[in-house]
Amino acid sequence: MHQADRDREKVKGSSRKSASRREFITCVGVAGMGITAAPAIRAMSQSSQAKVAGANQRVRVAIMGTNSRGDALAGSFARLPGAEVVAVCDVDTRAIAKAQATVEKHQRPRPKGVTDLRRILDDASVDALVIAAPDHWHAPAAILGIEAGKHVYVEKPCSHNPREGELLVEAARRRNRVVQMGSQRRSYPHIIEAMTALKSGIIGRVYYSRSCYNNNRGPIGTGKQAPVPEWLDYELWQGPAPRRPYLDNRIHYNWHWFWHWGTGESGNNAVHFMDLCRWGLEIEYPILVSSVGGRYCHRGDDWETPDTQSIVFEFEGGKSMMWEGLSCSTLGYPGPTFHGEGGNMLVTDNGYTVYDEKSKVVKEVKGEAASPVDLTGPGFSKDVAHLNNFLKAITSGEKLNAPIEEGHKSTLLGHLGNIAARKQRTLHCDGKTGHVLGDTDAMTLWSREYEPGWWAPKS
Ligand SMILES: NC(=O)c1ccc[n+]([C@@H]2O[C@H](COP(=O)([O-])OP(=O)(O)OC[C@H]3O[C@@H](n4cnc5c(N)ncnc54)[C@H](O)[C@@H]3O)[C@@H](O)[C@H]2O)c1
Repeated sequence: MHQADRDREKVKGSSRKSASRREFITCVGVAGMGITAAPAIRAMSQSSQAKVAGANQRVRVAIMGTNSRGDALAGSFARLPGAEVVAVCDVDTRAIAKAQATVEKHQRPRPKGVTDLRRILDDASVDALVIAAPDHWHAPAAILGIEAGKHVYVEKPCSHNPREGELLVEAARRRNRVVQMGSQRRSYPHIIEAMTALKSGIIGRVYYSRSCYNNNRGPIGTGKQAPVPEWLDYELWQGPAPRRPYLDNRIHYNWHWFWHWGTGESGNNAVHFMDLCRWGLEIEYPILVSSVGGRYCHRGDDWETPDTQSIVFEFEGGKSMMWEGLSCSTLGYPGPTFHGEGGNMLVTDNGYTVYDEKSKVVKEVKGEAASPVDLTGPGFSKDVAHLNNFLKAITSGEKLNAPIEEGHKSTLLGHLGNIAARKQRTLHCDGKTGHVLGDTDAMTLWSREYEPGWWAPKS
């Protein structure tokens, strides 16, 4: 038997063993503290506590979810001298084999392949967990990783709903782990320079910022009940989300457009750009959020989240921002743009331009040319600084460019926009926490229901 087939067989075996969810991840709540793990996880987490590697040591990384983004991250980490990819974890056996092959192009030895996240959590040789699974897994897996002593790189959005983000921040602080969100633009050198220039007043007091996202996504059709493919452990794929029958148009990728697992285009893409707007405006939580949107294009298929959405936010101190997302129309405008009392700034993936009050260019800075962004991300050359920043934060205490506190605040903006669109009303929020005020109905979307026996916050 070929080695890859032997690995697939091993993976299938472990997948069959993994199907008992009761012994999986049961988290019980502690009021005010978010979550703690069940005894099995607690015992494991003490033994597998990741040691902070020394400055010259390689961080041993495991990647969860390797169909697309995770495969790219596996290849990127494998190329970095500061990392060794020791394991790839996916519930799709084909994705495991693909990522192992990707890693092997850059690194020896070949990483082990596992189906079950528990085999990463209880592996003391893993220092850091990298999460590129679907959104409903992000915060639960990240918190479990933290509780098991791992450092965590979690893809954006860092949570499926606001409460998970709060719990994730609490867990990272409680266990003092390095937790970075995959908002890689925070590490683009020209963007750091642009933000520093904004802060130093290059366009005066900045009071407004806007951004947009455009794509030409097609319809996803109507799902039909089908047997679960032999390559997929659907039980583990669903994990903490309440059970749904397997339909043939959700996996992979299209789960993004279902509230049950995804966060729509605002969680998928707005978070990147609203993160920059928030950074440049030097703001945290909004006091007003309004949004309109819906499935306006290709109507009649299963897609639930808005494919066309506008979100506006107001912040304390006379500042506001706007994001527009068109999933099915490619005509947009460059950005984000920042508007100040003394001029304007345009920031793109490959540079920034400063204009005076009359829109005359006063400064133009070119960054590294942007490669075309595809479903796997912006490519190695654009990701590398962010990944290195995460590794150096672990090995030598370098300051994180996208610590989870910032990731949570930016992810929350997308969640609030979605709540406002779904409830079809303006939300009044607490400027210190983002909590919706005087609207218990809107706050029902602050959290979610969980599948019993998996992972559940209780506070
Ligand atoms: N930062 C960026 O530029 C960037 C780019 C693309 C995607 N992303 C993010 O990465 C995440 C993944 O996106 P994608 O497009 O790769 O999605 P995808 O659906 O193509 O892949 C997700 C993978 O996770 C696997 N998975 C599901 N449950 C799992 C579990 N319990 N254990 C292990 N693996 C599991 C799936 O089998 C699949 O292989 C998303 O949250 C997305 O927002 C970020």
